[in-house]
Amino acid sequence: MSPLEGAQRAASQGPPEASSQVDPQASPPAAVEAVDVRRSYRVGSGQVDALRGVSVSIRPGDYVALIGPSGSGKSTLMHLLGLLDRPTSGQVLVAGRDTRTLDDDGLAELRNRTIGFVFQAFQLLARTTAVDNVALPLIYRGAGRRERRDRAVAALEAVGLGHRLDHRPAQLSGGEQQRVAIARALVGEPSLLLADEPTGNLDSVTGAEVMATLERLNRERGVAVMLVTHDRDVAARAGRQIRMRDGLVVDPATAAPVAWGPDS
Ligand SMILES: Nc1ncnc2c1ncn2[C@@H]1O[C@H](COP(=O)(O)OP(=O)(O)OP(=O)(O)O)[C@@H](O)[C@H]1O
Ligand SMILES: [Mg+2]
Repeated sequence: MSPLEGAQRAASQGPPEASSQVDPQASPPAAVEAVDVRRSYRVGSGQVDALRGVSVSIRPGDYVALIGPSGSGKSTLMHLLGLLDRPTSGQVLVAGRDTRTLDDDGLAELRNRTIGFVFQAFQLLARTTAVDNVALPLIYRGAGRRERRDRAVAALEAVGLGHRLDHRPAQLSGGEQQRVAIARALVGEPSLLLADEPTGNLDSVTGAEVMATLERLNRERGVAVMLVTHDRDVAARAGRQIRMRDGLVVDPATAAPVAWGPDS
């Protein structure tokens, strides 16, 4: 199938129309969906085609592992799905909404309300306590001081850190720091959590704690989770795997390119 046919097929199957249908049986739109996205970077006088026509769909409540060799485009795709970057071409839909028409403020606002992002390197503010790190995203929503604190405390309790509210990052273990980062991603009650190698900087025991936290949030709160991992065991625990190679989604079993997600 050509990329154009792939995009058309995806669009005809895709959820944007579904959300406007009156059919009560209609399935809800994907939490996030990429339709034939490409992302190229200019480097010197050359160009790197990091994504070469990728279509994926993450449904509400999904638990998906994104796997593939180093340089295959996993982080690039995660950044597009997390609205941290824009594709060179193609479409990213969040809860059925086409994000191409949004300006940077509009993207940031949609991201703040719907998506939590967890990075390998935690990205916490070093001089700021756990509770204030977690409360930060709520400032951009205009929440008052009291509400920010209450919700940050609740998010830290949800990741088992209710007893570490006033610790700064350097006063926490690696696994605790990553759980603070998960609480920060969670505080806005997103429907989707994207995690790029969340256990990459952690030893196996601490990594297992972080994974257990993500799995519990998915199971108990129905938050859709997509995570990048190089760990086979972590990937095997996910409900579904998406494998990338050379900027394309490939079949997890055969590694042959697929024009559209394996389960569509
Ligand atoms: N800002 C950039 N400018 C130029 N090239 C880039 C940029 N970011 C990524 N690339 C290139 O795009 C390709 C995909 O990179 P990406 O970071 O998505 O890979 P990855 O699958 O996440 O790898 P890893 O498992 O090592 O994290 C790589 O060849 C990389 O060198
Ligand atoms: Mg990466």
